[in-house]
Amino acid sequence: MFQIEQTGYQLGAFINDLNLTEKISDEDFKSLYKALSEYEVLFFRDQKISFDNHRRFASAFGSMQTHPAYPTVEGFPEITILENDKENPSKIEEWHTDMTFKKNPPLGSILIGKIIPETGGDTMFSSLSKAYDDLSHEWKERLEEMNAIHSFEFGFKESLEEEGGRERLADALKENPPVSHPIIKRHPVTGRKVIYVNRLFTSHIEGDDAGGSILNFLFDHIHQEKYQYRFSWENNSIAFWDNRSVLHKPVNDYWPQLRRMERITIES
Ligand SMILES: [Fe+2]
Repeated sequence: MFQIEQTGYQLGAFINDLNLTEKISDEDFKSLYKALSEYEVLFFRDQKISFDNHRRFASAFGSMQTHPAYPTVEGFPEITILENDKENPSKIEEWHTDMTFKKNPPLGSILIGKIIPETGGDTMFSSLSKAYDDLSHEWKERLEEMNAIHSFEFGFKESLEEEGGRERLADALKENPPVSHPIIKRHPVTGRKVIYVNRLFTSHIEGDDAGGSILNFLFDHIHQEKYQYRFSWENNSIAFWDNRSVLHKPVNDYWPQLRRMERITIES
């Protein structure tokens, strides 16, 4: 049985003494799933896993998605490559949960750092359940019946504006019209409530004023440092986040160094 070492912050735990090049036992799977729901993001160090290992580990948690906008590893369409360097700086700057432009956004993602720059390139995680807990009673009641619109087009506006961007992403645009999600969602395992908006994909709240006062209030609230944990990568580190309860954000401070990550996203 592996060891769980909490970060000491509002979310996150390190999983020690578990070798992901080997198939995990049913018992370990159950404990990991519980830990993921409880601590919201799990971290692993020194996991020299193959593409096959990555896929096998992810597939224990559900079926795997392919991403409409990113390149993938040859022969492994479920492994997305996130590679940034001098020519290709990261375009994602905002706090977000992944793919909330879908009706059923993913359960989570398993991201491994393959080439980590010498300095910088951390990832920030933030707890949406702890942010919910801190809302006033009045806000909790008011938000309970409200919905927000999440949109692929809104989230990928910079890519769409690039030369040929609209043509390249035409299918993804067509397949992903804007969707509405309740602002307050309940986590299916822990039963905790979370604030379900994010700056990358949430274009507006239904019934908000023209300036987006409610949405801006929520962004200010959920982006407070007290809900966050900042993870420093090493080669072969893994972060496995519960996309139902955390926000994440890359820290793009390593340019022009190369950073290569590989990610599998698991369906809910
Ligand atoms: Fe992401």
